[in-house]
This record gives sequence, C-alpha cells and structure tokens, in this order.
Amino acid sequence: MADADVKAVAGGAAPEATDEAPKKPVDPDFEPEIIVFACHYCAYAAADLAGSMRLQYPTNIRMIKLPCTGKLEVIHLLKAIESGADGVYAAGCLEGECHYLKGNLWARKRVNHVKTLLEEVGIEPERVEMYNMSSAMGAKFAEVATEFTERIKALGPNPVKREGVDPHAAAREALGGVAMPDDPAPSAATSEEGHAE
Ligand code: FES
Repeated sequence: MADADVKAVAGGAAPEATDEAPKKPVDPDFEPEIIVFACHYCAYAAADLAGSMRLQYPTNIRMIKLPCTGKLEVIHLLKAIESGADGVYAAGCLEGECHYLKGNLWARKRVNHVKTLLEEVGIEPERVEMYNMSSAMGAKFAEVATEFTERIKALGPNPVKREGVDPHAAAREALGGVAMPDDPAPSAATSEEGHAE
C-alpha cells in the first residue's frame, strides 16, 4: 500500500518520526535522595539562615560541609551518583568571592565535566549541578533546594541506585578528611519542612 493510502486508511497524517525518547511518567510518591556539597563560608551558612528565617525547603537534601567547593573532585561527584544519589549539587561562594580565589570556578568545571561523563554512560546530566550563593542568601538556598528537588522528581530515580547503599555516607567516605564535621543541629532544622545535616 502506498504512503498516501496508509494515511487515508488511518484517517490522517502519520505522526512524524522523532528522536526524542518517550517521557517517563512521574511517580508522585518518588522522594529523591539529594546530596549537597556545600561550602561552609556560603551555602552552609545560607542554609542556617534559611532555617532562622523559617523558610521551608524539601527534606530530600542532605548536606556535606566542605571548606571550599574547590576541594570537590570529579571522583566525589561520581561516587555520590554511583552509590545511588538521585541528584547531586555543589553550592559554592559567588564568583569572585571564593576564599581560596578560584575554588568555585574549579568546582564548576568539574561539575560540567561530570555532566559530560554521565551523558556518555546514559545518565541524565541534569542530575548534577553547580550553584553559587553568599551566606546572606537564605532565600536563594531554599529556592535552589526546592527547584533542584522538583527537577530530580521529574527525572525519576537514579538508574544505578542500589539497595542498602547510603549515598550520603558513601560520598562522605569518598571525601575522607576533606568533609568537615557538621555543626550540631543547624537552625535550618527549625523549619517545618527543611533540614540541614
Ligand atoms: Fe566558598 Fe571557595 S570558599 S567556594
């Protein structure tokens, strides 16, 4: 049967071929596990401020405090994903305000490199991101946490997630002595929804 006949039988034009993968249905019950590598000079302090301001943000995020995002290597980001984190982001000082001059710029380069690596192995690069903020940006901290969580919810679970592996613990272990001890019960925990660990 000729193409035109097929269209006539179907009662209209055949759908155009597209390279786009069909969208996965969003599971409304999916609660992603998100790791945040936070510079203690800015994002970690901003989280604390968000808590003091009683701004709400999702409880999906679990923070690991760093002396500077420049300490974050490609292997640390990959380890977080490999151990099952659904999303990972680094939150560093504003550009030009890193206490170690270029730590946040190196972090952005490493995050971008990890995005490329993930894409090569078929994992959505959007699962990894870099943000910049100052310690005074409590509202931005809450906004980023909320937006990123929504992004990951839309993507669905990490395809390499494994039963019984805690991505937060695995990422901390990979960092070794680089991760700083968390402050006891940051005041962000006073937010009804938000917390910082
Ligand atoms: Fe904050 Fe470098 S000191 S990112």
